[in-house]
Amino acid sequence: MELIFASHNENKVNEIRAVLSKDIHLLSLNDIGFHQEIEENGNTLEENSRIKAETIYKIYGKNVFADDTGLFVESLEGAPGVYSARYAGTGNSADNIEKLFKELKTKSNRKAYFKTVICLFWKNEIHFLSGEIHGEIIDEIRGSEGFGYDPVFVPESYGLTFAEMDLNEKNQISHRAGAVQKLINFVENN
Ligand code: IMP
Repeated sequence: MELIFASHNENKVNEIRAVLSKDIHLLSLNDIGFHQEIEENGNTLEENSRIKAETIYKIYGKNVFADDTGLFVESLEGAPGVYSARYAGTGNSADNIEKLFKELKTKSNRKAYFKTVICLFWKNEIHFLSGEIHGEIIDEIRGSEGFGYDPVFVPESYGLTFAEMDLNEKNQISHRAGAVQKLINFVENN
């Protein structure tokens, strides 16, 4: 059974390929020869993941999924949320973190969560699967692993930031891992 991951990011594709059963043949956008960027102009993770998956589904009519992730900070009414990648306007992680520190300067509530939504077109039906991890934003940068907001996010009941953790450890508990596990269970049982 073929399944397309509507992503150009081969690292993400390989990560999922490694944990899928051999019966499912995972293809990236590069594998199917789709080289355009898909504009993510939705206002929610659901909308953005759907835009990506549906674009490919409409062209190829095959099983396909796409993901979208955001960091939601409680005292900032859920910002940066769906705009996490370009929070500071530059697309640069250091700038995004600097902006986050500035916005949180006067706030005592530092609770936040990462959420990943996967939109899946499977046997001509649409499904949404998601994963979350809750924790808090600290007021300094710690660690050098990972990417994005990892150096400032400490998951609940852990003393380390995502960037201080071993990548395997992060990948066992993360928002993305939660959503991907649901995806795998679904496609392997349906
Ligand atoms: P994407 O939808 O996976 O491209 O994620 C959107 C943005 O959310 C990224 O550009 C990062 O800023 C942030 N982000 C997503 N996943 C993570 C993560 O695991 N750690 C830290 N930041 C993340």
